[in-house]
Amino acid sequence: MCGIVGYVGKQSCAPILIDGLRRLEYRGYDSAGLAVHDGTSLKVVRAVGKLRNLESEISQRPLAGSLGIGHTRWATHGRPSEINAHPHVAGKIAVIHNGIIENYLKLRARLVASGARIVSDTDTEIIAHLIDQHARRGLALEDAVRAALKEVEGAYAIVVISETETDKMVVAKNASPLVIGLGDNENFCASDIPALLQHTNRVIILEDGDMAVVTASRVAITTLEGKAIDRHTKAISWSPVMAEKAGYKHFMLKEIFEQPRAIEDTLRGRLDREHGEISGEEIGLSKQEIQDIQRIYLVACGTSYYAAMTGQYYFERLARIRSNLELASEFRGRDPVIGEGDLVVAISQSGETLDTLMAAKAAKEKGAKVISISNVIGSAIPRISDASFYTHAGPEIGVASTKCFTAQLSALLMLSIYIASHNGALEAKRVKSLIEGLARVPQQMREVLQGTRQLVVNLAKRYVEAKDVLFLGRGLNLPVALEGALKLKEISYVHAEGYAAGEMKHGPIALIDANLPVIVLVPDDDCRERTKSNLQEAKARGAKIIAVATEGDEEIHGMSDEVVEIPRTDNEFIPFLTVLPLQLYAYYVADFKGTDVDQPRNLAKTVTVE
Ligand code: AGP
Repeated sequence: MCGIVGYVGKQSCAPILIDGLRRLEYRGYDSAGLAVHDGTSLKVVRAVGKLRNLESEISQRPLAGSLGIGHTRWATHGRPSEINAHPHVAGKIAVIHNGIIENYLKLRARLVASGARIVSDTDTEIIAHLIDQHARRGLALEDAVRAALKEVEGAYAIVVISETETDKMVVAKNASPLVIGLGDNENFCASDIPALLQHTNRVIILEDGDMAVVTASRVAITTLEGKAIDRHTKAISWSPVMAEKAGYKHFMLKEIFEQPRAIEDTLRGRLDREHGEISGEEIGLSKQEIQDIQRIYLVACGTSYYAAMTGQYYFERLARIRSNLELASEFRGRDPVIGEGDLVVAISQSGETLDTLMAAKAAKEKGAKVISISNVIGSAIPRISDASFYTHAGPEIGVASTKCFTAQLSALLMLSIYIASHNGALEAKRVKSLIEGLARVPQQMREVLQGTRQLVVNLAKRYVEAKDVLFLGRGLNLPVALEGALKLKEISYVHAEGYAAGEMKHGPIALIDANLPVIVLVPDDDCRERTKSNLQEAKARGAKIIAVATEGDEEIHGMSDEVVEIPRTDNEFIPFLTVLPLQLYAYYVADFKGTDVDQPRNLAKTVTVE
């Protein structure tokens, strides 16, 4: 989820580019860079870390020129470093890119074989070399870009400039956002509207498959094949702050709705649907190592712990490997009996949570293999792990984790399927079916988010004064119930408990009275019948029942006060859907109560203390 900006016009562009990158800061970054044409040649300045590091570089090496591009990197391939920072240059071509190129390794091998000198670990540099090769054949920049993109598979928003064509930027978009800002004898482009509002509120939002030649006086939009397209110019009325949240009131709400895209980006390049396989090079486990796994330990904190609980279910049910679920803060302290042949999966959105980092280090010291699932490339936990299987959810700004939770579920499910397909626990047919089902999840999530939002707003309004809420779930929905309770607690400050539905009668049922809303996750899965009985037990004692059920379940409708419906799907994918109304419920209760949704009291996004 990088930030990209471009300018062509009459002003000195370096300050404009830096200002644009600063307004994209919420997109996260671990390095930044500019490429500016000074009238004679392309000058490139890049720096690791915060934007101010780039600014201090530029203060020592001023960049003059009125054609330029700028980039802040949120690493997906290749650790944060100056050499991996954008813009990437090949010959006379400079490129900045936001997205994930799925076939870059194959293209890289071909380029190296043809004598190209590749210096970074990024997929973006490959694009620069492809364009350069076509430009050297005498193609105009836009035609060289066109020819290069025909070879590329994956997500991209790119801006390209050339040392020899000093009046234009060429931009192209597929699955990653790119907008053009229209000025007066100057034009802009960026990955997001906030970078443009300082200069213009007239924008063109490009669609997948679009490309454009942008000069100071003209924007010519075409398909990749060169067919002219007419795109509507929008007048944006947002303030810059609103624009950073894409018009949502809080980052948390924006991130709840970003989940389908976050899952798509996490799955990207890893689901080989044609052959029914998970591409698992980055998992770093040989077939023999997989077959030698004695036990899996899932270690995490908070929301990531509830993702880990889901992962335990996946590993046992799909890969048939004994799996332990461990609170990171407890794991190290009990001096666990763990060693050779044990696999530890350390899950952490930030990759910096000290409890999880110390637990992973302890496991390594005892001889276990550690795989990390993190959302931040090159963060502390991946750095000490034997392998990392990253989520690609983009920076999560809201302290309450939402899109990283479901992205973690997708990573854990892919890891379980990969292991199960290599230790013989799953037949090829079942593997293919799971992969197909996983590929459908983002669209199902979109349907649930759109279909349940208004109902959940009404529920939050109706129960906003509740002093306690009980969340019940079984099987794969127990971690979802626990996560739903945590969301409500941490952002609305309302006391909530997540509980195993089957356990309620062993104590918590004493809590139930007419003032207690009980949210019951009772989709049509292999636990429905028993959970339905628990729902009836709560109902019989006067509880207000809010059920999350499979669409059309009239029996559940008949015994509940409210029902939020999700589409029918296989067991493994249900948590991706049942968690969504719970996230929305917590958000709207907190919003109605007026708490600080994005930065709740007492909380930090990353807990780096024990
Ligand atoms: C989740 O909403 C909380 N912010 C918190 O529980 C968080 O999940 C926990 O601190 C773990 O963080 P990590 O995933 O970055 O390790």
